[in-house]
Amino acid sequence: METVRTISETKAILEKIKADGKTIGFVPTMGALHAGHISLQECSYKENDFTVCSIFVNPIQFNNAEDLEKYPRTEERDIEMLEKAGCHLVFIPSVNEMYGEKEETVYDFGHLDKILEGEFRPGHFNGVAIVVKKLFDIVTPHRAYFGEKDYQQLAIVKQLVRMHDIPVEIVPCPTMRELSGLAMSSRNERLSLEEKEIATVLYRTLKQTAEKASELAPKECENWAIQQINAAPGMSVEYFSIVDAETMLPVKKWHEGQQVIACVAAFIVGVRLIDNMMIFS
Ligand code: PAF
Repeated sequence: METVRTISETKAILEKIKADGKTIGFVPTMGALHAGHISLQECSYKENDFTVCSIFVNPIQFNNAEDLEKYPRTEERDIEMLEKAGCHLVFIPSVNEMYGEKEETVYDFGHLDKILEGEFRPGHFNGVAIVVKKLFDIVTPHRAYFGEKDYQQLAIVKQLVRMHDIPVEIVPCPTMRELSGLAMSSRNERLSLEEKEIATVLYRTLKQTAEKASELAPKECENWAIQQINAAPGMSVEYFSIVDAETMLPVKKWHEGQQVIACVAAFIVGVRLIDNMMIFS
């Protein structure tokens, strides 16, 4: 596996790969890798001739300076994990390399970047879109792999690709969970074993909400779920919303055939976790 830190070297290597007629799969990450990232990497490995991963803690997608500062950084371990998983090239740029000039692009995603995560993390999706667009321009992948845990991010990336006609296939990959059901996340590294156990209330509540949907209206389901999560020690819900899985707009009534997803964000000891589950698919 090659470890490359500059845009020019990455482009030069990938131009040769493309000239040889090989397909490129891409897994963008912010590092602190776990089995979830490795599952994306493995999907890419199976479906492409050459797999590229990036590790870049993107400062402009953090709307909270403390969250950025505390974001786990485990570069050496990440490189070892990627090498073992069969990655061919890991791109690890510095902030200067990625953002030489002040970044001023403002994307318009309509309602999509203003609801759920967008409401509580203003500017977050603009930062994600800017970095993903830059990374796509550098790597020019045939396929790019994104986890369904960040369901709204996936929707934003799909819209970005449509808006710019980027010739890349976006491949969604299922959320990887601990045996306890807790969704894998780099942020879990900041939790003790006991806190991780408490945080499994998110998974349990999402599952039970799907069951409750046969007896309760969407709003009642949301209220019930918020109560369940807030009752767990140290947990505090930021939002629990039942939305249309395509538009991500709130669902007020159940409609037959509509794909519906429940999305949640909650804090435990200052660590913000998100998760989601299809209610009707
Ligand atoms: O999901 C992430 O890790 C990040 O948001 C991404 C897509 C790598 C962009 O920084």
